[in-house]
Amino acid sequence: MLLESQGISHLRHCSRIWSAFLHAPAPGRILSPIMEVIICNTYEELCRAAAREVADVLNAKPNAVLGLATGSTPLGLYQELARMYKRGELDFSHVTTFNLDEYVGLPITHPQSYYHFMHENFFKHINIPPHNIHIPSGTTTNYRAFCEWYEKRIVEVGGIDLQILGIGSDGHIGFNEPGSSLSSRTRLKTLARPTIEDNARFFDKPQDVPIYAITMGVGTIIEAKQCLLMANGKKKARAIAAAIEGPVTSMITASALQLHPETKAYLDTEAASELQMRDYYDWIQLKKPGAPRV
Ligand code: F6R
Repeated sequence: MLLESQGISHLRHCSRIWSAFLHAPAPGRILSPIMEVIICNTYEELCRAAAREVADVLNAKPNAVLGLATGSTPLGLYQELARMYKRGELDFSHVTTFNLDEYVGLPITHPQSYYHFMHENFFKHINIPPHNIHIPSGTTTNYRAFCEWYEKRIVEVGGIDLQILGIGSDGHIGFNEPGSSLSSRTRLKTLARPTIEDNARFFDKPQDVPIYAITMGVGTIIEAKQCLLMANGKKKARAIAAAIEGPVTSMITASALQLHPETKAYLDTEAASELQMRDYYDWIQLKKPGAPRV
């Protein structure tokens, strides 16, 4: 009986994912071939362009729900959004946020906790009400119940309008490491060695890097109405090429975004350097102003 109900709930998850894949792009948007790829000359330009995307969402829907990432990639985006807020161009007083992930075992006061990262680098610079901020708890005593609650909260607020994403050098989004099910939900995850090695630069000693994290699942992420993938630097070039132009596979969890109807990838030239269709992506952007609206 238990197995049966777990099977039904799995099927329900899968059908939600497929319906997310199949729903049409919003009116007024151009149809893009795979995902819309926007290549910027510099990281600063990339962050300004990504910030304009966030601003468009907030201007259209002041109580929008944002999915947020941590790490070095979105830092410039958060700085730009904070600047826009200070200039009076953005208001976060009705915005709700959900962070993708958090290390297990780090208290919120730990300088490397994602809670600390988000408050230091973004939340303390804008006017978001603290009760609208959601970050997975890395110190809960009941991970399963917490993950279920997190998923339920996302649904209660109407789903995520715009999900910001970075990408790991192994192609992960959130902490959905290679091999993660493309229908996975928020859950506890063991980090892969390359991720632990990548993140070691933020910790005093390699053995201090947490081995477990809570992360939204790939299935959770791709239910967002829009996704915005950001990547900069040569170190991301292979993962980006695999995610955008390779097969859709759980081995590169970012590749699931190919099936999402409204994903834009903002890249700098280094992160875009292994894309085979680069000329075509640039051509699409060049011809975008004249494209028929859907
Ligand atoms: C962090 C997250 C991760 C990072 C990825 C890239 O919340 O979701 O998927 O986006 O590991 O990290 P950086 O930006 O530090 O290269």
